[in-house]
Amino acid sequence: TNEPYWKDATFYQVYPASFKDSNGDGWGDLPGLISELDYLSDLGVDVIWVSPIFDSPQKDMGYDVRDYQKIYAPYGSIEDVDILLRESHNRGMKVILDLVVNHTSQEHEWFQESRSSKDNPKRDWYIWKPPRYDAEGTRIPPTNWRSYFAGPTWTFDEHTREYYLHLYASDQPDLNWDNASCRRAIYDNTMRFWLDRGVDGFRIDTVNKYSKRQDFVDAPVTDPSSPHQSAPEMWCNGPRIHEFIHEMNRDVLAPYEAVSVGELSNTPDPRQVRPYVSARAQELDMVFEFSLIRLGTGNILGPKYIYQPFPLSKMKALTQKWQFVDGTDDAWTTVFVENHDNARAVCRFGDSSTPELWNKSAKTIALWQVTLTGTLFLYQGQEIGMTNMPSSWGIEEYKDVESTGFYEEAVQSGDPELIKKTLHGLGHLARDHSRIPFQWDASPNAGFTREGATPWMRVHDEYKSINVARQRDDPDSILSFYKKALTLRKQHRDLFVFGSFTLLDPEDESVFSYVKRDIKGHTDKIAVVTLNMSGEQQMGTDVASILGSEARLVVSTQDGSKLVDGRPVLKPWEGRVYVNY
Ligand code: BGC
Repeated sequence: TNEPYWKDATFYQVYPASFKDSNGDGWGDLPGLISELDYLSDLGVDVIWVSPIFDSPQKDMGYDVRDYQKIYAPYGSIEDVDILLRESHNRGMKVILDLVVNHTSQEHEWFQESRSSKDNPKRDWYIWKPPRYDAEGTRIPPTNWRSYFAGPTWTFDEHTREYYLHLYASDQPDLNWDNASCRRAIYDNTMRFWLDRGVDGFRIDTVNKYSKRQDFVDAPVTDPSSPHQSAPEMWCNGPRIHEFIHEMNRDVLAPYEAVSVGELSNTPDPRQVRPYVSARAQELDMVFEFSLIRLGTGNILGPKYIYQPFPLSKMKALTQKWQFVDGTDDAWTTVFVENHDNARAVCRFGDSSTPELWNKSAKTIALWQVTLTGTLFLYQGQEIGMTNMPSSWGIEEYKDVESTGFYEEAVQSGDPELIKKTLHGLGHLARDHSRIPFQWDASPNAGFTREGATPWMRVHDEYKSINVARQRDDPDSILSFYKKALTLRKQHRDLFVFGSFTLLDPEDESVFSYVKRDIKGHTDKIAVVTLNMSGEQQMGTDVASILGSEARLVVSTQDGSKLVDGRPVLKPWEGRVYVNY
């Protein structure tokens, strides 16, 4: 077909620290990943996205880069990357790296130079501002903005007596994209270097935050409980962002035909997303939009870890909202329900309360994902239904800078209620849940690392019952269903990958049904997806009325087929797809 490969490719995100440790140091590594490429190929993976592997002091798990051209030593060497590329390409798989260029580590040589003096040539490669003083003459940061990790977005540097900006941790100073020589260095030092070595593209971190509004003013007070205020409008989708991304496309992505997927946060309106992913705009191929995956979190920049239960109807409405393109559109989108920044889907959108419901609901989530339009991204462990850390684990098992940042802020508040709610919210939502070691088998440490080694994060207590080895040869396993579902997605790509999406019964709080149509191919092919997202038996949508008498059952997650008056009788957590061809 005339479509680029990346539209109907299945992408798989590997979190290198937690995938496979080959040398027993407790950290995953590239040789470990290379040793499992057959597993990924057999699953049906077309493109591997590796989260950051560059040299880093690991203050934010590698999203704080110290040297873009060196590999973090515990992960291996740059030669290991060459082997990864060669071995993946030999298996027909491509590899994209994680491009983190909104900020560097404070240990990056660029920042070391920038902070050394006000007249250093690289001073303007970062964002420095003089202090302000309050009525009592106390020094205060240039603005009242709140970091994504709680606390301020400014840190005072004694040496030159100015503050530097960091939207994330103080270890992650923001690069100044308004400086042309800084942008040039980003394109050459971090992007071309890897594209010249054969990397196939990038997942681009925080892609809509590079153009800060230049007025640097205080944000309105929206969270009186904190001295710092959420202010994404000060740096998201800023005045020059499309100029910068188009320049990146023109100078680097397009010449190398590099695939690009941007991480686009704080942009709840599809009309604002479209300019980034319209092919005519020549900016990005596609983006991740986070409204759906954020379901359940509190204010995205306020007390984020206050868990807020949500009805199915809200999840359905957000799915519909972000199925805003189809094969006839020059824009494109992504489909995902897990990543390294969010808790496990089977716990958040399914039901992991019993082994039976866990198995059934994980498959229905899989069927939901593979029948949506856009490029599909899986996250390591999603395919075997890995679950959140046990609720019995204490705060000491949470290693993530964001989790500890919000917990510390709650402790500092002295409010026991906020502390309790934050611990509860972390138990549902923390980024840590997706970062514990991948569960390969029932051997010690779940086969992630050798016996006697100490994994950098604790292995899940239930690794003996949830692991690849136990599922690989079980036709009823989640893993087996994902393989089948990914194959179905390709077989019915006109509808599943490229089709238009029409939500049915938006108010129904138990059954999630939608229609996919092949408008791109101008055929009258139709698919009806009807998913029981509840623990009780439900009547699915009236497929006969939509598909006519020739309605054909393509798949049921539980091999069900019963119809009553044209309507499927869906067992608890059973999903089905019917077509008219
Ligand atoms: C990444 C996070 C990271 C943050 C700072 C996000 O895009 O997904 O894991 O903490 O950027 O780089």
